[in-house]
Amino acid sequence: MERAAAGRRPAPSDRVRVAVRVRPFSQREKNSGSKCVISMHSRTTTIIQDPKNAARVNTFTFDLAYWSHSGFQKDEEDVLVPAGPTSQFAGQAKVFHDIGRGILDNAWQGYNATLLAYGQTGSGKSYSMMGLGANKGLIPRVCQELFRAMENGEEHREYQVAVSMLEIYNEQIRDLLAGGAPPGGGLRVREAPERGFHVEGLTWVPCGSYEHLARLLARGTRARTTASTRMNAHSSRSHLLVTVQLKQVSLRTALTTQAAINLVDLAGSERQRGAGSAGDRLREGARVNLSLASLGAVISALADAALGKKVWHIPYRASVLTKLLRSALGGNSRTTLIATISPADVCYAETLSTLRYAERAKRVRNSAVVNTWTPAREPGARGEPLPCACGHAADPPAWLPGPRAWAALLEQARREWEQQGAAEAQERQLVETLPHLLNVNEDPQLTGVLKHFIREGSCDAGQAAGNAILLQGLGISDKHASFTNLDGKVTVAPHRKSKVVVNGVPITTRTQLQHLDRVILGSNSTYLYVGFPSERGREDGLRFDYDFFQLERAAAEGVSADWLGAGSGGAGRADPSVLAAAQDYVKLTPLVAEANQMSQDLEKGLHLELKVKNLASSDSRGFQLQKEVMVKVTHQRTREVWIWSKAKFVHRKFLMEELYQRLLDGEAGPEAREDDPFWDPVEAVHVGAAHVWLQALAHRLGLEEQVELLGCEGLEEAVLHVRVTPCCPAGRARGEEDAAADPGDLLGGRMDFQVHLVRCLGVRWMKEGAKRGIQLGYRIYDLPNTLYTKPAWENVNPQIEETVQFAALHVSQEFLNYLQTNALIVDLWGLQEGCAELGCSQLDLPVTAEGHIMVDTKKLPSVKDSSQNTSSQTSELYQKLFKLEREAELLRNINRALREENVILKESLEKTGLHPQALEPSRAQKMPGSTTRLPSASERSPQCGQEAPCAPELARALKAFYRSASAARAQWLRLRQQKPPEDDQMLRPFLHLQSQMLKDFGDLFESSLWKLKNDVALIVKKKREHSLHVTQ
Ligand SMILES: Nc1ncnc2c1ncn2[C@@H]1O[C@H](COP(=O)(O)OP(=O)(O)OP(=O)(O)O)[C@@H](O)[C@H]1O
Ligand SMILES: [Mg+2]
Repeated sequence: MERAAAGRRPAPSDRVRVAVRVRPFSQREKNSGSKCVISMHSRTTTIIQDPKNAARVNTFTFDLAYWSHSGFQKDEEDVLVPAGPTSQFAGQAKVFHDIGRGILDNAWQGYNATLLAYGQTGSGKSYSMMGLGANKGLIPRVCQELFRAMENGEEHREYQVAVSMLEIYNEQIRDLLAGGAPPGGGLRVREAPERGFHVEGLTWVPCGSYEHLARLLARGTRARTTASTRMNAHSSRSHLLVTVQLKQVSLRTALTTQAAINLVDLAGSERQRGAGSAGDRLREGARVNLSLASLGAVISALADAALGKKVWHIPYRASVLTKLLRSALGGNSRTTLIATISPADVCYAETLSTLRYAERAKRVRNSAVVNTWTPAREPGARGEPLPCACGHAADPPAWLPGPRAWAALLEQARREWEQQGAAEAQERQLVETLPHLLNVNEDPQLTGVLKHFIREGSCDAGQAAGNAILLQGLGISDKHASFTNLDGKVTVAPHRKSKVVVNGVPITTRTQLQHLDRVILGSNSTYLYVGFPSERGREDGLRFDYDFFQLERAAAEGVSADWLGAGSGGAGRADPSVLAAAQDYVKLTPLVAEANQMSQDLEKGLHLELKVKNLASSDSRGFQLQKEVMVKVTHQRTREVWIWSKAKFVHRKFLMEELYQRLLDGEAGPEAREDDPFWDPVEAVHVGAAHVWLQALAHRLGLEEQVELLGCEGLEEAVLHVRVTPCCPAGRARGEEDAAADPGDLLGGRMDFQVHLVRCLGVRWMKEGAKRGIQLGYRIYDLPNTLYTKPAWENVNPQIEETVQFAALHVSQEFLNYLQTNALIVDLWGLQEGCAELGCSQLDLPVTAEGHIMVDTKKLPSVKDSSQNTSSQTSELYQKLFKLEREAELLRNINRALREENVILKESLEKTGLHPQALEPSRAQKMPGSTTRLPSASERSPQCGQEAPCAPELARALKAFYRSASAARAQWLRLRQQKPPEDDQMLRPFLHLQSQMLKDFGDLFESSLWKLKNDVALIVKKKREHSLHVTQ
């Protein structure tokens, strides 16, 4: 073969062309009120704005920028087209016009051409590449145009087209056009001196028409769908590579030109940055994301090289994908990258990262050459490997065979295609006449590809080969369910304990199906039931997409934004962070079900449960904490518990899938426990938290309470007995006579107090596991570290008895504000056998000369600072609480005014020269109800018991008031956590209970306030009488 001898013309260095495309909002994004952070002001610039900081704007310039976000409408064929002459909207036709035609032009000239779609999951890669429904993407359009041009081509030219389609998942190559079961472990990549890297044994199908090629694409999509039935998110984690070989032979000169068109739909880019960075002990698995990470590394290295940096090594060999794309990046290809992005604010970080990636990619330079030669002999005649119409007998064609061999192959492929066509026609007829199940996939491209017909009579469905309906998927039993089609009715019944969910609700008995019912089998195999033709109306099943199934299931389980307390903000918009948590919950529910199934199949003994962190928890001021989805993992035998963050779970799930796949392929599992994604060393688990309100301390009054330690769902985990006692520096407790009626009196002075954690009662964590322990932890005001108590093991009512003394040397206004509006949060941590105890180094803490821990050492932002306020919404009740507190403040002011009045009276008395002895502070202090002026904080002696007291009656009144205020606050928090029942029947009792609790709350407050007012009025009366008595 004199390949390239005749005309391998080196072309000037080509830069990778980069286009960016922004898609419309998804329904999910619309529902959560997403904002668009992308703008495009020209055909080349893309601007992205940080949703948290409007001033932070990044501008990127690429070869092309497509605005596909807005300004469109559907034409009569459901194709999205610009809504008017001024619309910027770029539909599929426009993208093909710019990019697709360029690829074809290159291929016609004999240049290899590659198109890569890169972007996060759901950003529109597959939409751009394959398209959806009537909106055909680049792959079908390029293929269609290729054949159209061939039909109108030169007379003395012969064309040959062969196509291959493969998927790379976890570094395994799956041939999507090969019939039969894929070989275990997938196909191999080989390297040959002349051909470079190629896939050994890949099926190449000769195509004589676009219709044939389109059917091959459909066959490949079907193969992908079958593979993805096991794990729904499979397709977004795999790379799809469609290659079209185009050979042109001039019948006059025998000059042959050949080009490979590689069309690549990459896996979701978020997998490239390992979730391992989310603090997981386990790094990415050996194969997980390797291809995407290596692609990033290759692009970076090539971009650096283009900038003139010294690059020693381009890591092409690191992964399957980079081996296969070797010529596309830095080699013999003209390459275009289309970066697809989401417009939504929540995707900002990922979108920015995609744009930066694209920015690097545009620096990469290739050296494409025209692949042309004059064959001395026909390759097929020389025993060169030939492409094969079916099966996987042949090596890939480095070039396509000569005309004779080609004609035979084409004929064979055509016969196959006709057979396939007949089967498809038969299926279409069945679709028209029989009720059936249609698969619904997370990837809309794969939805509706699989059809299971329910023929008359009864039939079984399951994994086992003997079933009439053969199902695959996690949690599908050998014999999973039975369907009947009798008397114009279709029913389904689960077999034994198999999971069958109809319209979101699990069923246990035979249930009749209605047209467009949603059926979930096993952990997450989702199907839409299409009824008898007579039932089918005009409504199609399009609105029942994958999200619909998951939302419906979540709603049936009582999960919604309302359940999370999203409520409605001022502008009628629910709290976006709560909506985000609710969406995460819905999205993760099927993944957790899949993880549980894998745990069960692999006998790992783990049970995973989705939880909402802070579902019913509030911060130190009673505001709701930001909600986050987390996963509680329990070992069913050992009762060990782990809490995984969402990121960790997603990462682990990915590793689990890799392990599961390996075991299915008959490969060995991880040898070391340390590498097992189902295992983790045990650690302390956060069990609950208690609020200890500190207002009394602002008056230098002690408090002793039994408070509930509530779990994240608002359930009582234990009761904490706690005492907070103001004391003198030496540690002796102060009495009521030392109380400050006005917290302002403490300003600038020294304040010592002790926190005494006495004991815990009824610790549920201990009840549930014999070999467990607990520790309590808290952090007061500006302490840099959390203080932990010593662990207490194996006791449901552990005695803690730990006291720490704190000292504020110069009490600041901020500290007083903190005491009046904040609670001390005491966290309950669950310890398990073998886990490390929690501790902090007290050495880091500032201490007084007496060795007490200092607080109020730095000026903190005022309590009015809303930056810490994780939830801006304050409920009506909470405002009422503040109102009541303001009333208490008013009463304090009355007291202050009385004291001033007292001073005036004293002065007038001094003027008249009467009863001077009555004005001596030492005597006045001893007299209850004395109207004598209280000394200011600066006048006080630091000695315990010698500071000027306020009236003890007032102190007692305040103490009683704050005790009942604390009880009312707890009542209020409980009230806030009440969620309406799902069951309408229960609504009435719920409302009754709610109104009773509200009434109790109101009564408690009214009575405590009434008592305080009375007490103060009494004190005022006494003072008046006393001063009158003194005046006389
Ligand atoms: N330009 C667009 N115009 C209209 N709809 C779009 C566009 N791009 C994407 N979509 C829609 O957005 C959704 C997600 O798109 P798509 O499936 O192409 O994402 P993807 O990037 O391939 O995700 P994955 O990585 O999970 O495969 C689909 O419902 C698709 O129809
Ligand atoms: Mg996709």
